[in-house]
Amino acid sequence: MFNIAVFVSGRGSNLRALYEKVSGESVKVCAVVSDKEDCGAAEFAKENSIPVFFVSSKIADGFSSYKSVAEELKKMFVDLIVLAGFLKKIPDEFVDEFENKIINIHPALLPSYGGKGMYGLNVHKAVFEARDKISGATVHFVDKVYDNGKIISQRSVNIDDVKSAEEIAARVLKIEHELLPDVVRKFSEGRIKIN
Ligand code: GAR
Repeated sequence: MFNIAVFVSGRGSNLRALYEKVSGESVKVCAVVSDKEDCGAAEFAKENSIPVFFVSSKIADGFSSYKSVAEELKKMFVDLIVLAGFLKKIPDEFVDEFENKIINIHPALLPSYGGKGMYGLNVHKAVFEARDKISGATVHFVDKVYDNGKIISQRSVNIDDVKSAEEIAARVLKIEHELLPDVVRKFSEGRIKIN
C-alpha cells in the first residue's frame, strides 16, 4: 500500500479528486492535515472516516504542532505528502523530515506566477491582467522556498477567450483534478524518482 497524507486549507476539491481517482487497492489517503478547523476539505475527510489533524505553528486549542504531526505521519508510514490547496508555508524542519516526499499543486505554470502571496484567485487575477493566452497547473517538490522546488509535471489550458479571472480558475481547476491524481499514481507505481 502506498500511503499519502493530504494537506488542505479550503474547499478540498483536489482532495476529493485524489480520493475518487487514486485511492483504492494500492493507494490510501491515510490522513488529512488542515490548518483550518472548519473547511470543506476537513468535512470531506470526516465524512469519509479519514483521520484529520489540525496543525498550527502557534500553540492553539485543538491544533497540533508540525513536529507532532510529523511523528503521527511517520507512525502511519506515510510515503508521500501532498499539498492540495494548503496555503501555509511548511516549516523548514518539517521539509527536512520528509525530504523529497512533499509535493504541491500550484494553479499556474511555474516558474511564472509563483511565490509568496501567489495562491488561489490571486494567481488567476495576475494571469488575467497579463492577458496570457495559456495557463495551467504545476506539480512540484516542496523545498524551503515558496513554489521553488523541482517541477514534476505540468499541464496547460487555453484561456485566450476568457472574460474573468474566475473563468481561468475554473478551467485550471479542471486540469488540476486530472494532473494531481496522475502524478500521485505515478509515484505509487515508482515511476517518479529524484536523481
Ligand atoms: C487549488 O486551485 C490549488 O491549486 C490552490 O488552491 C486551490 C485549492 O482548491 N493552491 C495554491 O494556490 C497553492 N499556492 P481545493 O481546496 O478545491 O483543492
